[in-house]
Amino acid sequence: MIKVCLVHGPNLNLLGVRESNIYGTDSFDEINRKIKARATERGMDVRIFQSNHEGEIIDSIQDARDWADAIIINPGALTHYSYAVRDALTAVRLPVIEVHVSNVHAREEFRRHSVISPIVIGQIVGLGPFGYLLAIDAVQQIVEQSHL
Ligand code: DQA
Repeated sequence: MIKVCLVHGPNLNLLGVRESNIYGTDSFDEINRKIKARATERGMDVRIFQSNHEGEIIDSIQDARDWADAIIINPGALTHYSYAVRDALTAVRLPVIEVHVSNVHAREEFRRHSVISPIVIGQIVGLGPFGYLLAIDAVQQIVEQSHL
């Protein structure tokens, strides 16, 4: 069974509450329910982790080395400056998909740059919470192909 570590960074626990014009109205719990349902449909196991603390996010990435086949991460604002999160993702040598709920390219200038993107397989940006479901599908493809 494919095992996925899905990491939500700072402030993503407020999805559904924060700036609903940008991030939509689906609650964080509802989004996670949909992610789990999608993984179950695909016969995959997803473990979801959220933290507002950079160190805890790094711990969860390092921990994934022992059990996960891939990482899906929305690092929130850490995307734009955390070399520590980037180094952790590089260190674990797992395939990584980067997700952003909003279209970061249509917003403030500082959101256009991701320090994570050079080390990920791909990004899913601007499709709302549906992006997480597409990321589950992408992980399935990537991991299955790597086992061929
Ligand atoms: C975000 C975009 C980031 O710029 C922002 O800091 C977030 C959410 C997104 O999912 O669109 O917290 O990662």
